[in-house]
Amino acid sequence: YRTLRIALLGGGTVGAQVARLLLDNGEELGSRIGASIELAGIAVRDLDKPRDVALPRELFTTRAEELILGADIVVELMGGIDPARELILKALNSGADVVTGNKLLLATHGAELFDAAEQVGAQLYYEAAVGGAIPIIRPLRDSLAGDSVTRILGIVNGTTNFILDRMDSAGEDLADALATATELGYAEADPTADIGGYDAAAKAALLASLAFHTNVPLEAVYREGIEDITKEQVDRAQAMGYVVKLLAICERIADPVTGEAGVSARVYPALVPRRHPLAAVHGVHNAVFVQAQAAGDLMFYGAGAGGLQTASAVLGDVVSAARRHVAGGPGVAESTHANLPALPVSAALTRY
Ligand code: NDP
Ligand code: HSE
Repeated sequence: YRTLRIALLGGGTVGAQVARLLLDNGEELGSRIGASIELAGIAVRDLDKPRDVALPRELFTTRAEELILGADIVVELMGGIDPARELILKALNSGADVVTGNKLLLATHGAELFDAAEQVGAQLYYEAAVGGAIPIIRPLRDSLAGDSVTRILGIVNGTTNFILDRMDSAGEDLADALATATELGYAEADPTADIGGYDAAAKAALLASLAFHTNVPLEAVYREGIEDITKEQVDRAQAMGYVVKLLAICERIADPVTGEAGVSARVYPALVPRRHPLAAVHGVHNAVFVQAQAAGDLMFYGAGAGGLQTASAVLGDVVSAARRHVAGGPGVAESTHANLPALPVSAALTRY
């Protein structure tokens, strides 16, 4: 058995849950993959900070750079641009695969990071960057790779959906609902990113780039946030049979003047009729509708934020990276069927 060392950068809302899952389930995951998975350490800013999730103290360090040395897989869950960007570059250049949930970093410096990964034959995984627990990056990148996506429409920020839902169903005001969303670990470290629509715009840029095989920079995404939405407006919308939702819309368009093919990506609060399926997306949930030429309409739905839920997406990427390492590294296809244990199958259950 080969030992795969995992360096975790960030032990906050998501990082702590990733560490917990690795410690609790690492052995089983490893046996499925054919490797021993070792959590080498967790880089944080403050070693004395009280932590909600019980984790061995000796795993914590403030020396992120040292931690990534010798790591096979580096998981970046610090957030922000620097030092996350520099650390990811260092990790990739040292031959590690990197898993991140940092949509802001990818939407602003993605080209540099993906290029760096390609140059050294490493992989940069980011399923957790859009839609929390919802698998949406892999379906767009892999399952729909042979199709042509024409439109993506959805709710991609859990915090604002939680807030608008509370304003609509509980008559709360924006500030109170935001305080609860922050307490629950849904909001970004700077919640202006959520409220101002920047987080959703970064996700729209990632989705549009992936779906339309192009580079959609964050600046090209039209953005309006929910900061000016009042309880009165939400009530008025309700009385007229609508609900206010922060939508992200990415589509292939033709320039109205030249007819030239292009892409449009935009984020803004919209009035959604109450009978529309998006009106039924409550709380921290996200929903993403994808229209593709051959596949038709697809819908992806689930928890859009939250430590444990997002950790699920991160762990999925860790397993993909681990399989790649076990299979031989760069250029080797990920195997999904290796090392499956033979479980007894109940004849009675197979009838149903
Ligand atoms: P938190 O703010 O809860 O955690 C950040 C962690 O990174 C903390 O442990 C912090 O240390 C550590 N950290 C930050 N800066 C440094 C630094 N300079 N050096 C060392 N450690 C550092 O963030 P989240 O867990 O909520 O989010 C992490 C990432 O995941 C972000 O990119 C976010 O956008 C993304 N994400 C978050 C989701 C969520 O539901 N929260 C969902 C999907 C993606 P310390 O603990 O000492 O402060
Ligand atoms: N703050 C983000 C949200 C976290 O609320 O959607 C998940 O990306």
